[in-house]
Order: sequence, then structure tokens, then C-alpha cells
Amino acid sequence: MKIVTVVGARPQFVKAAVVSRVLREKHQEVLVHTGQHYDANMSAVFFEELGIPEPDYNLGIRGGTHGKMTGEMLAAVEDVLISEKPDALLAYGDTNSTLAGALAAVKLHIPVYHIEAGLRFGSFSMPEEVNRVLTDRISEKLFCPTKSAVGCLAAEGIRRNVYLTGDVMYDAYLKASAGTGRRAPEEPGRYYLLTVHREENSNPESLTEVFQAMAQLDAKVIYPVHPRNAKLAQSLAHPNIELIEPVGYFEMVGLLNHCEKVITDSGGLQREAFFAGKPCVTLLDHAVWPETHVGNRNQLAKCECGDILEKLSAKVAADSGEQPFGDGHAAEKIVAWF
Ligand code: UD1
Repeated sequence: MKIVTVVGARPQFVKAAVVSRVLREKHQEVLVHTGQHYDANMSAVFFEELGIPEPDYNLGIRGGTHGKMTGEMLAAVEDVLISEKPDALLAYGDTNSTLAGALAAVKLHIPVYHIEAGLRFGSFSMPEEVNRVLTDRISEKLFCPTKSAVGCLAAEGIRRNVYLTGDVMYDAYLKASAGTGRRAPEEPGRYYLLTVHREENSNPESLTEVFQAMAQLDAKVIYPVHPRNAKLAQSLAHPNIELIEPVGYFEMVGLLNHCEKVITDSGGLQREAFFAGKPCVTLLDHAVWPETHVGNRNQLAKCECGDILEKLSAKVAADSGEQPFGDGHAAEKIVAWF
């Protein structure tokens, strides 16, 4: 088969690295980078360290409103599809790049294969939820990371061509943790790991509350700052919070594996914390990964200082060893269904 894969944002590079390797053993892949993430430490670093082939197309579409970004991507991916005539389009997750790719393909009657299908937040207040729901609705094959994702699709009447495969992020995490890329921070010691990048949390009020909580913790906090929050984070600087540039995947896994606890609004990092057996406080209103919320191992918190501190001090059950995210071979299972 000839497959056009569309990626654009950090977590998609990690997922594509795992799947592309397996896919290219039997099929032809045309890799399209929409340009959504473009700073070297948000994009190129992942291609280099994960050995992802150079994209065949870089559409160079960045920034702007959601509609503008998604619309420009839709038109540009359509051009690629018209000239490449693939048998299917492969899309990952829930970003604007995902929806744009899927929409371009379905309108040309090219089947859409969606990896990380079936996740639900329960409210369209989050741009990612719009992207997920619409992409799933127009996908020909839906690859679910968990049983709960299969259940969410069934609840919406989507039962055909739904495959429970496990999570390709878990495949990637296992490889990175076992490999040479694992790095400890330069001065090992106790620290918490913070990331905040969601649109709904990227405002002065929310970030001030988060920083007030972080300032009171019993160890320093390391915060790799997404570029959208760089200025704001610097303006709120506090000695207990170490602001660092965005880090590559291996460095992130190293930071995760050596930290005390995680505070994040990232869908990826909250389950990587679960993989690593690290307690996590997630700064979102709804659970997207219900499997991680056992025994307080992942707790939702509002962007309020008091709530964050309360959740961080809650008693957390030990890692039971139960692994709801598959066996580390999701990529092989996915490609076998192509
Ligand atoms: C996007 C995804 C989100 C995913 C995240 C992964 C959408 C709606 N959201 O969020 O689901 O969890 O990627 O990291 O697609 N910017 C830079 N340099 C970059 C990238 C972004 O400066 O390399 C700035 C731009 O000004 C941009 C803003 O950050 O407008 C936000 O970036 P955007 O890609 O819209 O959303 P993310 O928050 O990265």
C-alpha cells in the first residue's frame, strides 16, 4: 500500500517514529509535516533523535487561529493527496493537523486510518475534542489504545473496523527507557516535573495559580516551557521553579523517570507518568485517560493553588503493575490491520 502520513505536533513525531519503522517494512510511506510545530526544539530534535525520515513534504503552516491553521492545512494536504494518490491517509491523535489531514482525505474518498481513536473529554470547550470526534467519525479504520476508547466509540455507534491495539506511546516509552537515550538531569536530586501548554491554561491567571503552588513545594520544580508560554513564565519567575527550553523525547523520558511527581495538562505526559509509576496531577477538568486515575495515581486539579497542593499531598496507591496500555507492540498490531 501507499500511505500518506500526516504529522505536525511533538507527540505525533514520537508516535510516527514507532509506527513508520514497522510500516515501511511492508508498505510505502509518504511523510507530510504540516509545520504546526516548527521551532528546532519542538520539531527537528525529534526527527534527529528518533531517526524519523525527512518529511517528503513540509507544508510550513504555522500559528494563526484554529480555523485559519486548519483551513490552510486542509488545502495544502489536499494538493499532496491529489498528486500522490495514496491508498490511505494515516493520522495521529487530536491536533489541528490530524483533523485537516483526515478531512482532506475523506473528501477525496481516500480512507482515513486513525491512531489513538476513541478518546473523549466530554466537552467541545477543548479544541482537541472537536478534532477527535470529527476525525473518528470520518475514519475508515480506528485504532484504539485502550478498552475505554473502544467503549467511547461504541457509545457513539461506531463499532465497525475498531481495533484495540494498545498505545504506541507505550511502545515508544519502553524503547526510550531501555535505551541509551535515558538521561538524568545534570544535578540529580529531588524535583517535580511541570508542563503547562493547553490553550485554556495558558493565561496569566491560571499560570499564576500554578506557580504559586509550585513555589510552596518541598523540592524544586523543572518546567520545560512551551514557546507559547515562554514570556508569561519568565514574567512570573520564582526561584523554586527552573524554567528550561523545551526538551527532546529522550531527555523528557529521563526527566520523567527521575522525578518525584508530575504536574501537567498534557495528554501524553499524564500517561507517560503512569507508565513510569510516577504520581501525576493533571490540570484539566475531565479525565481523558480513565485507566490512569486508579488509586489517585492521576488526579484532576483545577488551575488553583489550593487544589493543586491538595492533590499533590494526597495518598497515592503503589503501582500495581497492571498495564492497560498494551504490551509494547501496538505498532505491529496496527500495521497488521492495514
Ligand atoms: C498542539 C495541539 C495539542 C497537543 C500539542 C502537543 C492543537 C489544537 N493542539 O498544541 O493537542 O497536545 O500540540 O505539544 O492542535 N509555537 C511556537 N513554536 C512551535 C510551536 C508552537 O512558537 O514550534 C507557538 C505558536 O505561536 C502557536 C502556539 O505556540 O500559535 C500554540 O501552538 P499550537 O500548535 O497551536 O498548539 P499547541 O499548544 O502546541
